[in-house]
Amino acid sequence: MPAVSLRKLVLSAAVVAVFPLAAQAAPAQPNDFIEVFAKIFGEHKGIRKGHAKGVCATGDFTASAEATARFDAALFSGSAIPVSYRFSLAGGNPAAPDYASSPRGLAAQFTLADGSKHNIATLTTPVFGAKDPENFLGLLQASVPSADGKPDIAKIQAFRTAHPDTQPQAQWLAANPPPWSYATAEYFGIHTFYLVDKGGEKVKIRWHLQPKDGVKGLSAKEIAQQNADFLDGRLKQRLADGAVEFDWIISFGEAADSENDPSVQWPARPTLNAGTLRINTSGDGSCVNINFDPNVLSGGFSASDDPVLRMRSPAYAISFGKRLSGQ
Ligand code: HEM
Repeated sequence: MPAVSLRKLVLSAAVVAVFPLAAQAAPAQPNDFIEVFAKIFGEHKGIRKGHAKGVCATGDFTASAEATARFDAALFSGSAIPVSYRFSLAGGNPAAPDYASSPRGLAAQFTLADGSKHNIATLTTPVFGAKDPENFLGLLQASVPSADGKPDIAKIQAFRTAHPDTQPQAQWLAANPPPWSYATAEYFGIHTFYLVDKGGEKVKIRWHLQPKDGVKGLSAKEIAQQNADFLDGRLKQRLADGAVEFDWIISFGEAADSENDPSVQWPARPTLNAGTLRINTSGDGSCVNINFDPNVLSGGFSASDDPVLRMRSPAYAISFGKRLSGQ
């Protein structure tokens, strides 16, 4: 082979190696999300770029005897562990109406006896809005308002049709009313995590928080009243009667259950009630300077390779840095 064509061959092989996905969407970058949130929701300096509207709360967590018996994880020691919470509405609009048909969030930061932290940040939908960061970003980009300030519904629909993984969360939201109270919703961890049991086996888990007050949504009449701000007050009022509690229900996955796709719910699996999350007070500033990065995990827990879960750390870090510096 002549030297020049060999060089061409090596060069084109290098190009293919560097741009193997040239025909596909470019990998989403963490800052792409920050930028597209600003385009959809506007710039709101000094506050969270996602889940902009929310309320802090405080309380604790006590693991169940079953969890203590099965796992060595310090989080499941059985002693009361202090927790900082934040309830929120999805999206970057700090004035989002409380009757909006969108996920609610519950984030919790556990501070263990040795000072180490464990974070969770959950949604009221059992699945996420896309299977990977690229499709989530594509959906957000399709949702950016047009020149007239309104979202282009046909464009959003076309994206959803072309990307079926973006449909289940929307279908769930259409079929279930927004929560009546932050205390009357189930909250889902959505991603797969791993937890080492006492026999040293790494078990595959997902989990959700089950409200002891029961699940209750807004009625059609209440939604029509368009009361934009009742969730914080309703939580405070409820707490005047005593602690709000959630059971932490862990599901144990089987081999076929997805580890990396948060748009797919597992079928019903064997569960364990790992303990009680308790909320005692709400409405102070205790969570303002917390970054509830869900990859901050205490001993015994580890994250899956779910690309959405992986993307959350850098995106939250950018949002955290910006809001701490008043941007
Ligand atoms: C690629 C996907 C995602 C991106 C880019 C993203 C982005 C963000 C950002 C920028 C924030 C604000 C962070 C801060 O300033 O502290 C946030 C908050 C939040 N996100 Fe996500 N998120 C994603 C996926 C998820 C998923 C899958 C869940 C639930 C399973 C979730 C639940 C939450 C919750 C509950 C909060 C509020 C946390 C708090 O109260 O501080 N997010 N998200």
